[in-house]
Amino acid sequence: MAPILEIADLKTLARKRVPKLFFDYADSGSYTESTYRANESDFARIKLRQRVLVDMSGRTLETTMVGEKVKMPVALAPTGLTGMQHADGEMLAAKAAEEFGVPFTLSTMSICSIEDVASVTTRPFWFQLYVMRDRDFVMNLIERAKAARCSALVLTADLQLLGQRHKDIRNSLAAPPKLTPKHLYQMAIRPRWCWNMLQTNRRTFRNIHGHAKNVTDLSSLHSWTAEQFDPKLSWKDVEWIKKQWGGKLIIKGILDVEDAKMAAKTGADAIVVSNHGGRQLDGAHSSIAMLPKIVEAVGHKIEVHMDGGIRSGQDVLKAIALGAKGTYIGRPFLYGLGAMGKEGVTKALEIIAKEMDVTMALCGKRQLADVDKSIIAECPF
Ligand code: GLV
Repeated sequence: MAPILEIADLKTLARKRVPKLFFDYADSGSYTESTYRANESDFARIKLRQRVLVDMSGRTLETTMVGEKVKMPVALAPTGLTGMQHADGEMLAAKAAEEFGVPFTLSTMSICSIEDVASVTTRPFWFQLYVMRDRDFVMNLIERAKAARCSALVLTADLQLLGQRHKDIRNSLAAPPKLTPKHLYQMAIRPRWCWNMLQTNRRTFRNIHGHAKNVTDLSSLHSWTAEQFDPKLSWKDVEWIKKQWGGKLIIKGILDVEDAKMAAKTGADAIVVSNHGGRQLDGAHSSIAMLPKIVEAVGHKIEVHMDGGIRSGQDVLKAIALGAKGTYIGRPFLYGLGAMGKEGVTKALEIIAKEMDVTMALCGKRQLADVDKSIIAECPF
């Protein structure tokens, strides 16, 4: 096997090991994917300042996110259908995150349930909430997340309806409501994936199955989601959620300064500058391009995190330099998971940590508290 040196290597391997419809699901952006691409390419437009002959010894990447100690400011993002990239994917990723010392965020749209993840972890994980029309179901999720001792609720604000991802439609992931011969073929040519999947009974949406009506398989999730996402969702609902939850609240999906100001007023603990990995409003700015403006507007009031386009530890460091207190990786850990299961998630985290450490040192810094705009030589935003 070729050496795995960067996240792109894990992506190459995942593409070979995960059935196409699931690899594409994780990998796609909406419409022309211009925002997805900008998320990645805008990081490359930021140039770092090389510094020499300063003491670079005794470095650490440790910091906090919403008051929790983290080995590096990189949480695993909530990603849908993670348990389809690899059998029991959410449980494996949560364990890898726990062992590494970074937060894991479980998606509402996960295969493994809140209870499944709680059963294999000791460190509290974070739970991502979609506010569905069925508010009883939402309450049920909140109560279950509390019972599992989740330490933060990540409320996704940018998916009141689903952005169109052409690949999913071309792969018939949205409809018809059962597996097609093409899907079965795509699975059959991935024997390692099939073998692992046959070892588990976790193949449905276990946060939803048995709690929401008529959700029995992958395709019915799509019709259920289409009906259940609430186009009427508003800031009032955020207040309601905050009250019901009563713990740390992170609002994810903020890309506009006005929205950031509104979010700061809710008394949430953090916001995530995000465009949902380029999966929602295609044509929107990249997350990293909006980060400095949002930090300037609300950074003194609320912790600002970001996600979207991070493919290396250098990207994380650039986000921190531009004022983010934390970041999230979605696809990088999914590639790791699809490539090599839990070991692949650990590998993704190790790659990012190493890149961040070396880059920080070569910029002349020894700890993240000292990383600010002074390490940036050029930034177009
Ligand atoms: C769900 O969060 C998705 O982006 O598919």
